[in-house]
Parts: sequence; C-alpha cells; structure tokens
Amino acid sequence: MKIAILPGDGIGPEIMNQAVKVMNVLGEKFETETVPVGGAAYAAHGHPLPESTLKVAKEADAILFGAVGDFKYDNLERSLRPEQAILGLRKHLSLFANFRPAILYPELAGASSLKPEIVSGLDIMIVRELTGDIYFGQPRGMREAPDGPFKGEREGFDTMRYTEPEIRRIAHVAFQAAQKRGKRLTSVDKANVLETFQFWRDVVTDVHKEYPDVELDHMYVDNAAMQLVRAPKKFDVVVTGNMFGDILSDAAAMLTGSIGMLPSASLNAKNQGLYEPSHGSAPDIAGKDMANPLAQILSLAMMLRYSLNKAEQADRVEAAVKAVLKQGLRTPDIFEAGTTKVSTTQMGDAVVKALA
Ligand code: IPM
Ligand code: MN
Repeated sequence: MKIAILPGDGIGPEIMNQAVKVMNVLGEKFETETVPVGGAAYAAHGHPLPESTLKVAKEADAILFGAVGDFKYDNLERSLRPEQAILGLRKHLSLFANFRPAILYPELAGASSLKPEIVSGLDIMIVRELTGDIYFGQPRGMREAPDGPFKGEREGFDTMRYTEPEIRRIAHVAFQAAQKRGKRLTSVDKANVLETFQFWRDVVTDVHKEYPDVELDHMYVDNAAMQLVRAPKKFDVVVTGNMFGDILSDAAAMLTGSIGMLPSASLNAKNQGLYEPSHGSAPDIAGKDMANPLAQILSLAMMLRYSLNKAEQADRVEAAVKAVLKQGLRTPDIFEAGTTKVSTTQMGDAVVKALA
C-alpha cells in the first residue's frame, strides 16, 4: 500500500508528524514517500505542485495531505500560489467527490458557537463536488468589459458551469452515502437565479429515480446557510457544487466547536483519495506546537476506511481520538475551563498511547 505524504506549509508539518506517529503504531506495513507541496514546494522547486510531487501523488493509493498557504507567498502570481497545489491535485487526479463530515463530539458541546440543545448529536455529511463549477470553468480572466453599462472598463470574470456527467456522478455518490446513513439527502443549489443550478436540480431529480429509498429535498443555498445555524440537525447528507460546498462546509465545521477537529476525503472514481484536514495552514500559530492535530489524525482514519479498506484500523484511530477527548486533553483551540491544555506533540502522543 503506497501512501504519499504531503505535509505542506504552516502547521501542516507539525500536525502531519502526529498523524505519521499514529500510522506507525498501527502494526501495518505502509510504503510512504514524503514530498513537498504548496509554499514548501515553491521554495524547493519553484512551483507549488512540481512534476515530482504530482508523480508521487498519482502513483500512490492514497495521499495524506497537511495544509498549504503562508503569508510569505501571498504576493506571488496566482499560478504560483500555494492554493494552486491543492486545486491542481484535485484536477489532475479527478478527485471530484469531497466528503466533509461535521460531527459534534459530546465532550466538545461547549465549544460550539450554538446552544448545546441545537447542536448536541450533530452528525452531517457534506458532499461537495470538487472539480467543476466556477472554480475551474473557462473562460475566466480580467479584461475590458465587452458590453453592458460599464463597457470598456476593466472587469474580472469567471464561468460557472456543470456538465450532466459531472452532476450525475456526484449525485450518485451522495445518494449512496445517504443510503448508508439516515437515507435523507438535501441538494443545495441556486436554481431560482442560476441556469447552472436549475440544470443541477433537474439532473439530481432524475438520478433520484434510482434511489427510491432515499428522501430527497432541494434547498436554495441562502436558505441552507440559514438552516445550518437554525436547525442543523435537520440535515443528514448535503450535496452541492464546488463553491457552495466550500462556503457551507466551513459554516458546518464551526457548529462543531472547532474546525481543528474535522477531516475530509476527496475521492476519484478509482477510490484513490486525498485526505486532508478541513482547516487551513494557520501560519499565525505555525511552529508553536499548539495546533490541533486531531483533524489530521482523523483524516488518516478516513484514509484507512475509504482508500485502504482497513475499517477496523480506522475504528481504532477514531476510538483513540474519542478516548483522549474523554481524558480531558485539549489543544488551545478547544480548551475550556476544567480541561487540560496540551501541545500538538502531547496530543499526538496521547493518541498513540490510547491506541496501545
Ligand atoms: C478548501 C479550501 C480551498 C478551496 C482553497 C485553499 C483553494 O478553502 O479546501 O475548502 O477553496 O477549495
Ligand atoms: Mn474552504
């Protein structure tokens, strides 16, 4: 089993160290290769996703990814910015299906920004389409406005588009995820305004015919944002496009108290996957041994489950994470009175110990 390890920037390397520590005590034989990505790769090779890194990623069964981005690289031209690495990996490996769970651990109910009775027991799965939409649509650019009241003025433009096969495949993934959970799927769109998302709604409705056991409803994205903070437990599986999924998944993550707890999986049709925390590189706290490594460790668990077919090992890792939370260990992002504040390294060590 080949695993590519891409720690990236900011807190990426520190939290990755903890996940690798955990991986090494599972008693499994993994072949790993660690390569730079993002700003680290730009510094080493002049590109955020060099050919050498892409090659290792393509040949791996799974990719464990940290995070990319640092203030240092904010002034680079867009094509060289660290974020291009993750976008490039998604596109080159066709990682179209992004799973972003938002689960509230009972021990962390107090860390949520919402009242405990609104979030307790929360368990949502956001399925975000990851290789289409306005993120990748052509044409895009900056130019002189060709028409309209501001004709001739400078403008920026992007193109929102989805082809039918792209919508069908993500819909199938989402319906199947719903079948394995509470059998309810909410498709989020903006069909009242956008042609792309009227089309999305039509196609999802058609795919639904193959999944009569799943209850489907459609929701506009603005309403979905509202419902997420009003009554989040009404959701089971949510499927949506790339941009709406980006926004809604951050909101859903915060309901759980800390984005530092949430893993994600991005899969292609071959079940090859990239596993990364839902949070970013947090350069402001990098190098301070204070970042929460649990999202990275839980991303490892998702990797074991989805790409490596090791559900038992995934269960073990998840149980170990629950155990350290029960012990009251907290990195600063989830710290509250009455718990014990620990560092990134101490948290990693505690998970390793709980596994033994
Ligand atoms: C995410 C991130 C990325 C996205 C950025 C870093 C390109 O916000 O994974 O949600 O917008 O998809
Ligand atoms: Mn995002």
